[in-house]
Amino acid sequence: MSKSALKISFLLCLLCIFVVTLTESQKYKPTWESIDSRPIPEWYDDAKIGMFITWGVYSVPSMSSEWFWWFWKGQPQSYIVDFMKKYYPPKWTYADFAKDFRAEFYNPKKWRDIIVSSGAKYIVFTSKHSDGYSLYPTNVTYQWNSRDVGAKRDLIGDLQVALKGSGVRFGLYHAMIEWFNPIWLADQRNNLTTQHYVKDYIFPQLREIINTYKPDMLWNDAGWLAPSWYWNATVFLAWLYNESPVKDYILTNDRWGSDCFCKHGGVWTCSDRFHPGHVMPHKWVNAMTIDKGSWGYRRNADLRDFYTIEELLKEVIYTISFGGNILINVGPTSWGTLAPIYEERFGQLGSWLKVNGEAIYKTTPWIHQNDTLSNRVWYTASKKDKSTIYSLLLDWPVDNEVTLGALKDIPVSNVTLLGSEAVMKFSQESAGLRVVFPYLNIRQMPCLWAWSLKISLQ
Ligand SMILES: *[C@@H]1O[C@H](CO)[C@@H](O)[C@H](O)[C@H]1NC(C)=O
Ligand SMILES: *[C@@H]1O[C@H](CO)[C@@H](O)[C@H](O)[C@H]1NC(C)=O
Ligand SMILES: *[C@@H]1O[C@H](CO)[C@@H](O)[C@H](O)[C@H]1NC(C)=O
Ligand SMILES: *[C@@H]1O[C@H](CO)[C@@H](O)[C@H](O)[C@H]1NC(C)=O
Ligand SMILES: *[C@@H]1O[C@H](CO)[C@@H](O)[C@H](O)[C@H]1NC(C)=O
Repeated sequence: MSKSALKISFLLCLLCIFVVTLTESQKYKPTWESIDSRPIPEWYDDAKIGMFITWGVYSVPSMSSEWFWWFWKGQPQSYIVDFMKKYYPPKWTYADFAKDFRAEFYNPKKWRDIIVSSGAKYIVFTSKHSDGYSLYPTNVTYQWNSRDVGAKRDLIGDLQVALKGSGVRFGLYHAMIEWFNPIWLADQRNNLTTQHYVKDYIFPQLREIINTYKPDMLWNDAGWLAPSWYWNATVFLAWLYNESPVKDYILTNDRWGSDCFCKHGGVWTCSDRFHPGHVMPHKWVNAMTIDKGSWGYRRNADLRDFYTIEELLKEVIYTISFGGNILINVGPTSWGTLAPIYEERFGQLGSWLKVNGEAIYKTTPWIHQNDTLSNRVWYTASKKDKSTIYSLLLDWPVDNEVTLGALKDIPVSNVTLLGSEAVMKFSQESAGLRVVFPYLNIRQMPCLWAWSLKISLQ
């Protein structure tokens, strides 16, 4: 070997070691310490707003909630038991509802338009809830899925195709526990000393949805009846992060077992409708639902059960200013539509975000989350421009001026109202930054609920 060839092979060898170390260091081990060290993909924190879609056979009886079956047969609630006695034949089973889960008016392009115009940057769609019915043509089970009974189509795949090119990321919800699955019940009877349900059922199902749909997010659920060692959660997650086709961008949550909530996994969901009330050291999400009483569609919901746009925006702003994402749920009908109340609410949210999105997307919490002086005033800060913060006011100031105590003694170079050309007068006073709003009539206002001030710091 010549001297230069030696040199080259030496260099190649070095390179080789370097590459090996690099890939080795990217390998996640099946331990929580290793799994938890994986950073949350950046797209998620930038996205802020997601739409949760809770849809399944429970949308047929569409009363109570998506837990209908459980509250009928598992832990019977008299109003459901009585309802079933009164309106259904004695031998009716939950499975009998499935043939009516027909989705006759399911038009994924229409859903896409509603999703896109809502301003949501990702969705989380139920692949399967705890009743075990899959909304896609699974090969892990048979008959109890949307290919064989009900809609007779791939409800998930069809929406994914419709969303292609829209820029909206695609996430899947998957419930691990199935209330009445005999394999799960057997493991449970064995005090979890057996793991047939995990090895023969949950792993194949999770791998199937990951390999088939390659989702951006896996919203795992219902792990609370067993600890994560039973679910072999770290084993699955190590596969997901090291080898799966989505290893580079997938995001998961913290519902991998009773010991994981607010502790292990991807984004912390902690509990439903979670808000810590302070900034957290870890990315968290407020998963909530527009129908305050249910995630699945309910025919018996009252108007007052639905968030008004004012209430929803308060929740959005309150969540984002503390560093959370908000995942807003809709329960579609069994015939495949998003009821007009949801369409309206998501449309209003989208129209608001068109004007105020700059104060929401790609922001980070500021030093203050709310104002120290004025009520119902919240803050966010731009991620890319350190000298820009936003002050979001839930109320238009009564006398057209507001004093922002949180900006006391902070030099400000400019204040503008998002969506308006109007000149904003501002001055430093002893109590804080005084901002004078222009006189705008209702047609000149950039939006009708909650206004954002863009504040340039010197
Ligand atoms: C189920 O199996 C069929 C036939 O092998 C295959 O074409 C299909 O992609 C599989 N479905 C899923 C969801 O993996
Ligand atoms: C499960 O645990 C209970 C309570 O400790 C015990 O009575 C029962 O025998 C156990 N069952 C099995 C199958 O080990
Ligand atoms: C699951 O975890 C158990 C220990 O809790 C282990 O014995 C088993 O091999 C694991 N299964 C898989 C598929 O990794
Ligand atoms: C701001 O938030 C803090 C903490 O939640 C609260 O104690 C305080 O009352 C709020 N300030 C105003 C002006 O609402
Ligand atoms: C403040 O912002 C407005 C709107 O962008 C702009 O027209 C104006 O020149 C700015 N004023 C200063 C002092 O930067």
